[in-house]
Amino acid sequence: MDSKNIWMISLCKIEDDMLSNTNSGFSTDIKHSEKYIEPIIKTRSLEKIYDMGNIQVTALKNIDIDIYPGEFVAIMGPSGSGKSTLMHILGCLDTPTKGKYFIDDTEVSLMHKNQLAKIRNQKVGFVFQTFNLLPHLNVLKNVELPLMYSGIKSSERTKKAKEILINVGLEDRMSHKPSELSGGQRQRVAIARAVVTRPSIILADEPTGNLDSQSGNDVLAIFKELHNYGNTIILVTHDTQIAKIAQRVIYIKDGEVADGNFNV
Ligand SMILES: Nc1ncnc2c1ncn2[C@@H]1O[C@H](COP(=O)(O)OP(=O)(O)O)[C@@H](O)[C@H]1O
Ligand SMILES: [Mg+2]
Repeated sequence: MDSKNIWMISLCKIEDDMLSNTNSGFSTDIKHSEKYIEPIIKTRSLEKIYDMGNIQVTALKNIDIDIYPGEFVAIMGPSGSGKSTLMHILGCLDTPTKGKYFIDDTEVSLMHKNQLAKIRNQKVGFVFQTFNLLPHLNVLKNVELPLMYSGIKSSERTKKAKEILINVGLEDRMSHKPSELSGGQRQRVAIARAVVTRPSIILADEPTGNLDSQSGNDVLAIFKELHNYGNTIILVTHDTQIAKIAQRVIYIKDGEVADGNFNV
C-alpha cells in the first residue's frame, strides 16, 4: 500500500456511511446528498462562562456554527476573543456552560467525562500551539499513546504509529525524545499523534504560532494533505496567508461569531 493512502481512512468512513444508508434507485441519490449535507459539527447557543469566584468571565456566547464533512475552516479573531475556548469545547477537552454541541448528530454537550474521552479518542484529533508532547516518552511512544487508550494491542500500535511517522517525514527520529527535535519536528509528531486513531475531525489551535516560516509551511502542507483526503480541518490562526488556504473563515470577536464567512 502506498503509505500516503493511510490518510484516506477518514474519507472512506464517510463513503461507507453513505453507502450503508442506501436502498436502491432514485432514493439512493437523495439519501447520499442528505447524508452529505448534515454538519459533522453543530453548535447552538453555545456559551462558556469561567467562574473565577468573585468574577465571572463570559468567554463565549450565542455560538451557532455548522461545519460540514470535508470542510477546511479557519477561525480568526483578536487575542482573548474566545478562539481557544471554542476549540477546547469542539475538541471535547472542555464543556460549555450552556447550549448544545453535536458531533455527527450526537449531542456531546450532554456527555459525562468518560463518554467525552471516548468521543475525543475516536472522532477528534487536537494539535496545540505548544505541541504538548510527553517529554519522557520517545517519538514513537508519544504517537502510540492514543492507540493505547483505544485498547489496541502493542504490535498493532507500533505498526500504525510507524506508518504515520513515515507519512510526516520522521521515520529517522522515532527513538528520539521531544527535547532532541526542532519545533517543526515536534509539531509533526503532535500531528501524527492527533491523526493516528484516524479521526475525521482535526482541530489545530495556532499550530504554526511557535514555528519559523519554513517549518510552518511544512506543517501546513500536512494539513492540506489531510484535507485533500477528506478530513474536516478547523484551524485557528492570526496569519491571513494561512487563512487563505481555508475554504471559509469564521471570525470571532468578544466571544461571539462576528462573521461566519469572513473574507481575508
Ligand atoms: N481557564 C480560564 N479561566 C478563566 N478565564 C479564562 C480561562 N481561559 C480563558 N479565559 C478568558 O476567556 C477569554 C477568552 O480566552 P481564549 O479563549 O483563550 O481567547 P483566544 O484564544 O481568542 O486568545 C479571555 O478573556 C480569557 O482571559
Ligand atoms: Mg488562544
